[in-house]
Amino acid sequence: MRRPHTATGRDDRELIRMATLAASSHNTQPWKFLPSTDAITIRADLTRRCPAVDPDDAHLYKSLGCAAENMVQAAAVQGIAATVSVDRTDREVRVDFDGTTDPGPTPLADAILTRQCTRDSYDGRPVTPDDLAALEAAGTLGSAHCVCITGADRLGEVAAFVTRGNLTQLNDARFRRELVSWIRFNPATALATRDGLAGRTTGQPAVPTWFGTALQRILLKADTQAKVDAERLASSAGVTVFVTPGDDVSDWVDAGRACQRYALQAEALDIRTAFINQPIEVTDLRPEFESWLGLTDERVHLAVRFGHGAKVPYSLRRPIDDVVRADAI
Ligand SMILES: Cc1cc2nc3c(=O)[nH]c(=O)nc-3n(C[C@H](O)[C@H](O)[C@H](O)COP(=O)(O)O)c2cc1C
Repeated sequence: MRRPHTATGRDDRELIRMATLAASSHNTQPWKFLPSTDAITIRADLTRRCPAVDPDDAHLYKSLGCAAENMVQAAAVQGIAATVSVDRTDREVRVDFDGTTDPGPTPLADAILTRQCTRDSYDGRPVTPDDLAALEAAGTLGSAHCVCITGADRLGEVAAFVTRGNLTQLNDARFRRELVSWIRFNPATALATRDGLAGRTTGQPAVPTWFGTALQRILLKADTQAKVDAERLASSAGVTVFVTPGDDVSDWVDAGRACQRYALQAEALDIRTAFINQPIEVTDLRPEFESWLGLTDERVHLAVRFGHGAKVPYSLRRPIDDVVRADAI
């Protein structure tokens, strides 16, 4: 899945391969790709919903936005300029191939292959003002823009929101059941499904699934997770949140695209990123988090911490034939 770009003209399988390397909530990969003459349409695979953490499917459509952004960046390598539109009624994302550009590698397209969510602690080093400016530019796209939070005091306040989010989520049986259903406790299970949250990407030792499931009450404790997240936030150079004016499918796709482009730019600058979305996912916390951010007419959709640090093993992806309409290519 992570071999280098190969195509020189339009190659839909390559574009879809690159799209699937995008981030997705719980690595559900909730997408189906439908190629046509001038476009590839990305549809939600609603069998991969996560109703406990994502009751309105907002994260699902942000994931489609992440995939669309990877496709736009990959198209440039093939000499194609692409534009993204959202059909609010059918809830589809369309990537139109409506222009040409000079073919060849770009830093953001190359970053598709190596970007990852790096959930380990970082080394505490700040990010330079030039790099921060490049990240901010990358995270501004369509109706979305980003707000960067730095400084130990402010990051400590984010950690307090995250702690409250962990308490709510990890004391909710539905949330826990859903999360555990997406954890792949050992490499054999991860390789069988090629989706979900593999233990090796989060630094967990491999255990049989029955054992991991039985032990989740001990392994997934709100106070332990809160401590780990607070340490990881303190090790980070900052947190960036992605914001749009509204809260519908078009906002979600734009926020996903902006966040993915931000992550690609970070990867190109050798900066690590990882999501820290608890203050957004917990319904009661989100308005409080928004007013803490000083937002009045805008909504916050995603939060990532960033900084310098070592990479972790990559997560897997399902084969392209599983995510493309069977008779399409
Ligand atoms: C909309 C969305 C929400 C996410 N929320 C979280 C989160 O709350 N915590 C987390 O650790 N990762 C989160 N992720 C990251 C995914 O778990 C990650 O993208 C997936 O496991 C694939 O791994 P990769 O991005 O390293 O390839 C989210 C990703 C997306 C697109």
